[in-house]
Amino acid sequence: MKALVTGGAGFIGSHLVDYLVEQGLDVVVVDDLSMGDLKNIHHQDHVDVYIEDVRNKEFIQQLLQREKPDYIYFLAAIASVADSIERPAETHSINHTAVFDMLEYIRKTELPIKKFLFTSSAAVYGNLPELPKKEDSRVDPLSPYAIDKYSTERFVLAYGNLYDLPTVCVRFFNVYGPGQNPSSPYSGVLSILTECFDKNKAFTLYGDGKQTRDFVYIDDVIQALWLITTSKTKHEVFNVANGHETSLNSIIHIYEKIAHKRIKIQKCDYRIGDVKRSVANINKLTKLGYTTKWTLEDGLNSYWGGI
Ligand code: UD1
Repeated sequence: MKALVTGGAGFIGSHLVDYLVEQGLDVVVVDDLSMGDLKNIHHQDHVDVYIEDVRNKEFIQQLLQREKPDYIYFLAAIASVADSIERPAETHSINHTAVFDMLEYIRKTELPIKKFLFTSSAAVYGNLPELPKKEDSRVDPLSPYAIDKYSTERFVLAYGNLYDLPTVCVRFFNVYGPGQNPSSPYSGVLSILTECFDKNKAFTLYGDGKQTRDFVYIDDVIQALWLITTSKTKHEVFNVANGHETSLNSIIHIYEKIAHKRIKIQKCDYRIGDVKRSVANINKLTKLGYTTKWTLEDGLNSYWGGI
């Protein structure tokens, strides 16, 4: 069995690659290393890495013909809401067009795949009041990032239905853990916070800290992805989350206890396009056999312990 992981040198991608190799798969990675790092790739014997942009259509098409992957995981993306507001055209070309082009090629050439998994986001739910978010809750994408994720989801699912392709989408909530790159101001908040604790730097808090997120540890995310891969799914969407709502203020407080340090906080205005409250209903995933193995405290302890 062979898997293609776009974005496989990135945070979530590289953990997935490790897991897939442990399950006995050969893996092909395409990553432009814009956020990923070759150091994240282990098991070199079972992984072929191509340093390439997923927007390179000719390259992707040749790769698909040559490698004929059974499973395709599309994780390559500009992963930040705020970044998408800075550069919407580039975000669109990666987060939407590159996925669409691959899907269209698979359809046209009738490439025999076993699963095409697109990684969408909790950002699609926006700021509507219903909580926790169920997969069939109303959506209200507020940023170019969220709009691209949602429209791409719709293509991926519609192509599944129209052409009987084995497509599935996951909506990641806020994934964290070792290997998350903190180097950009648009990196995930917990990678930034961890670096601030580690390097004794001030943390920039956008807003009053009352905004909430559903933080899910990377190992639980990989568990979810593999369950979805190996289950009979039908052109549908799954929330991938922990199922608990935590404010940034609480996270800071929990982290201070874990790191045995106080952190200096610089307050700034809310970021535009930011979601205020986010938490998932994970019943659908639970029905596939998913159990969250990592509480936030355990996850943060493990993350901090590995620094
Ligand atoms: C995150 C993910 C996105 C995913 C989505 C699902 C990243 C970069 N983004 O978006 O890929 O699809 O979850 O819900 O991993 N904040 C600060 N200070 C900072 C950085 C962030 O206060 O230095 C705040 C933000 O304003 C926001 C919250 O922390 O209110 C979370 O921000 P961020 O980690 O960027 O994640 P999301 O926008 O939720």
